[in-house]
Amino acid sequence: MNHSLKEKIENVIGSIHKMNVLDEQGWTSEVRRIFTGDRSFLLKSSYKEKYRTWLKAEAQVLKKLNKNTVISIPEYVGFIKEQHSDHLIMSFEDGMSLTAALTKASSLTEKKSLIRSFGQFLHQFHEKEPLEILVGEGEWLEGQLLKAQNYVENGQTDGDLTLLNHLKTKKPTPVKQTMIHGDCTTDNVFVIDREVQLFIDVAGMTVGDPRYDESLAIRKFWNNPEYLTAFYEGYTRYRVTKEEFHYFNEGLYEFF
Ligand SMILES: Nc1ncnc2c1ncn2[C@@H]1O[C@H](COP(=O)(O)OP(=O)(O)O)[C@@H](O)[C@H]1O
Ligand SMILES: [Mg+2]
Repeated sequence: MNHSLKEKIENVIGSIHKMNVLDEQGWTSEVRRIFTGDRSFLLKSSYKEKYRTWLKAEAQVLKKLNKNTVISIPEYVGFIKEQHSDHLIMSFEDGMSLTAALTKASSLTEKKSLIRSFGQFLHQFHEKEPLEILVGEGEWLEGQLLKAQNYVENGQTDGDLTLLNHLKTKKPTPVKQTMIHGDCTTDNVFVIDREVQLFIDVAGMTVGDPRYDESLAIRKFWNNPEYLTAFYEGYTRYRVTKEEFHYFNEGLYEFF
């Protein structure tokens, strides 16, 4: 890490004693744990334009939810803009992603219990009265399709125009909008004491279509009836149809 960045970080959290690059890295960023005298922080850095925009959005979400007691997320600490990178500082949480916890779990019972807790955690989140500060402008799906269009035009996505036009004409029948995580894969929920208890990677958190979260939540279990059953023992409010699952998982998610 260059000297000037280190200095800027120290202006926010105080003098740095130690720094580790985490074993578990994300897709869009580089994550490190930083220790000061009395606590530790998570530093998340992004370099590509698209991912810097996401990191900024994540910082804004964390910041506006900082004092809330309704949604379990890391605490916002600071944001540093450099010429070729951006850096988000947040509380370091002791735990691991559900993906990592599932790999580590040694028995089927343990895996199913983790997945059940994921279902429960998401169920409770979707059932909450949406926070006013999370309500975005306009209809969520419409906004996502617009973003997707922009990514296609700028060559920033794997999805193509044929798929996008298909998604525009085949929008699923609307359901009641709820608070959503917006990228709710097993990578982005955190396991603490053997239960899913926290959201991370919250750039997309807003009010939108809960079927998007649900579809991304089960994408790894779609062909595993036992795991699906465990998930739906926790998530009892709704069950996506096959068509809805494909619309969101193979459709919309292609662009993000
Ligand atoms: N607040 C946090 N506390 C501890 N570890 C974290 C925290 N946020 C992220 N991590 C770790 O960093 C990894 C990547 O974080 P994530 O925000 O998902 O990055 P990306 O956007 O690149 O996917 C996670 O899998 C997790 O192990
Ligand atoms: Mg992630």
